[in-house]
Amino acid sequence: MRILVTGGAGFIGSNFVHHLIDNTDHSVVVLDKLTYAGNLRSLDGLPDDRYEFVKGDIADAALVDELFGRVDAVVHYAAESHNDNSLHDPRPFLDTNIVGSYVLLEAARKHNIRFHHISTDEVYGDLELDDPERFTEETPYNPSSPYSSTKAGSDMLVRAWVRSFGVQATISNCSNNYGPYQHVEKFIPRQITNVLRGERPKLYGTGENVRDWIHADDHSSAVLTILEKGRIGETYLIGADGEKDNKSVVELILTQLGQSGDAYDLVNDRPGHDLRYAIDWSKLRDELGWAPRYADFEAGLAATIEWYRDHEDWWGPQKDATEARYKEQGQ
Ligand code: NAD
Ligand code: DAU
Repeated sequence: MRILVTGGAGFIGSNFVHHLIDNTDHSVVVLDKLTYAGNLRSLDGLPDDRYEFVKGDIADAALVDELFGRVDAVVHYAAESHNDNSLHDPRPFLDTNIVGSYVLLEAARKHNIRFHHISTDEVYGDLELDDPERFTEETPYNPSSPYSSTKAGSDMLVRAWVRSFGVQATISNCSNNYGPYQHVEKFIPRQITNVLRGERPKLYGTGENVRDWIHADDHSSAVLTILEKGRIGETYLIGADGEKDNKSVVELILTQLGQSGDAYDLVNDRPGHDLRYAIDWSKLRDELGWAPRYADFEAGLAATIEWYRDHEDWWGPQKDATEARYKEQGQ
């Protein structure tokens, strides 16, 4: 197959492109606008005969129509993805996550093309720290931030285009990813690169919030499984039983980098900060036979730290501007 990957120059999209090239015979066309979050260097080293890059906006209907006419399937990662940014300037989130997804769905309808929509567990809102339940495919939508509400909106569009127009789509909602090529605005890379630069990690609020971590390569293998074997119209949750509170993650980063585990600062909390996410991924396991490979978070984190240590040329140019923005916000 030739697969169109939107947002393929971003964190998870680029991990998926590498996963496809390394593990399948498929070829890839990447469509990416190269916003501040896109980085062509994340796609270095891909074979010319199986990979093509197109710079453009998913909301550009003419470009999207041309591309859908020459691929066999689409995996849609492109998005404005950072909650903190969405609290300061929501507009790009509406333009890309809602309108951009609408343009893609219209093209999928016209070309009758297999479409997989990448979404997030944040559409379900949050859980109490002591709640024994986890999110399932049946959990009601209850998004908290401009980011998660636009992702929830895009999921609803996909469901409507499946039901009303017979679009051949599936949806996956994944928990927090970590691994190589993640922008330094995000939690784990921000703290790793702070320590590498001799700065203290910054924990929002009290650091008690819990995220359910999964390695980006496990997310990629799950998406490929759904693309190949998923039932049309279905939603699949993706996770890897990786619940950790933020304070424990920062302590691990500090100790893995040879520092004292308490050498961090508590800073202003995120408004509306979701307390806890937790994913029940048994549907994906039972129906499609998928399982994660990176079971050991500490080992995956150590490998991620090594990647950032070895790739300052990749993240260095983004670091100062990112920290300047956080400083303005008291974070
Ligand atoms: P990212 O911000 O690292 O990358 C987004 C990519 O999309 C960038 O390359 C950017 O240039 C591109 N893009 C943005 N607007 C575009 C537009 N209008 N047209 C074309 N390209 C555009 O994001 P990420 O963390 O890799 O997330 C990718 C997807 O996965 C998103 O849909 C996100 O909601 C979802 N997701 C992320 C996580 C996570 O932990 N990061 C977890 C679950 C789901
Ligand atoms: O759950 C999936 C979501 O995970 C994706 O949909 C989003 O695209 C992705 O960005 C991520 O959202 P979060 O808001 O959970 O990720 P972030 O890396 O921004 O923050 C993770 C946690 O760490 C969160 O509780 C906020 C906290 N945090 C974040 C930063 C940047 C800090 O304590 N300090 C920080 O400096």
